[in-house]
Amino acid sequence: MSQIRACIFDLDGVIVDTAVYHYRAWKRLANELGFDFTEEDNEKLKGISRVQSLELILGWGGVEKTPAEKLELATRKNTWYVEMIQAMTPDEILPGAKEFLQEVKAAGLKSALGSASKNSGLILERTGLLPFFDVIIDGNVVSASKPDPEVFLKGAEALQIPPQQCVVFEDALAGVQAARAGGMKVIGIGSPEILGDADVVVSGLSAFRVNMLDAL
Ligand code: BG6
Ligand code: MG
Repeated sequence: MSQIRACIFDLDGVIVDTAVYHYRAWKRLANELGFDFTEEDNEKLKGISRVQSLELILGWGGVEKTPAEKLELATRKNTWYVEMIQAMTPDEILPGAKEFLQEVKAAGLKSALGSASKNSGLILERTGLLPFFDVIIDGNVVSASKPDPEVFLKGAEALQIPPQQCVVFEDALAGVQAARAGGMKVIGIGSPEILGDADVVVSGLSAFRVNMLDAL
């Protein structure tokens, strides 16, 4: 019998396919600054905050900016990103995600969002997924970026469930590390080469069932 009483979900790349929008917007910004970065580099941006993403990208391009310029650049990227997510529909929910959220609810488990994004409210509203979450912890209420466990610990605390009885679903290496640092079980969503530290790695939520939590 599983000890797990709550599921904490990352958003981008686990529930919705927004990683590609982040990539497009950052790429556009880099291109405007006169350089480019690869999809492999982009992997390092997953799970980390907007400000930290910008710092990494500027480093790759060897570009130095003042704090005021950085703020303007991050805002410019976010404006393009928001334009894309504003047009999102429930069709962009990743395969199996809604069904799994329904299964979690039906099994009587609690669920929380644990995302670095400050745009999570808009995304959940556009996709109609807001009602599936008992608690929303996102970039608006968290100060330390993954791999710091703050986002997941705040989720567990708000749900009033001990970390050891929570399982995190994550597509980013930084997120898997954050869950581990918080003393939680973690299911990696993506490739085992990147997420090998997770307890289990699956290609997507369509390949996962609530009864698989029993094995954790
Ligand atoms: C995470 C993404 O979910 O949110 C990161 O994986 C992103 O790539 C971060 O940088 C912050 O998102 P936002 O929407 O606040 O810019
Ligand atoms: Mg993610």
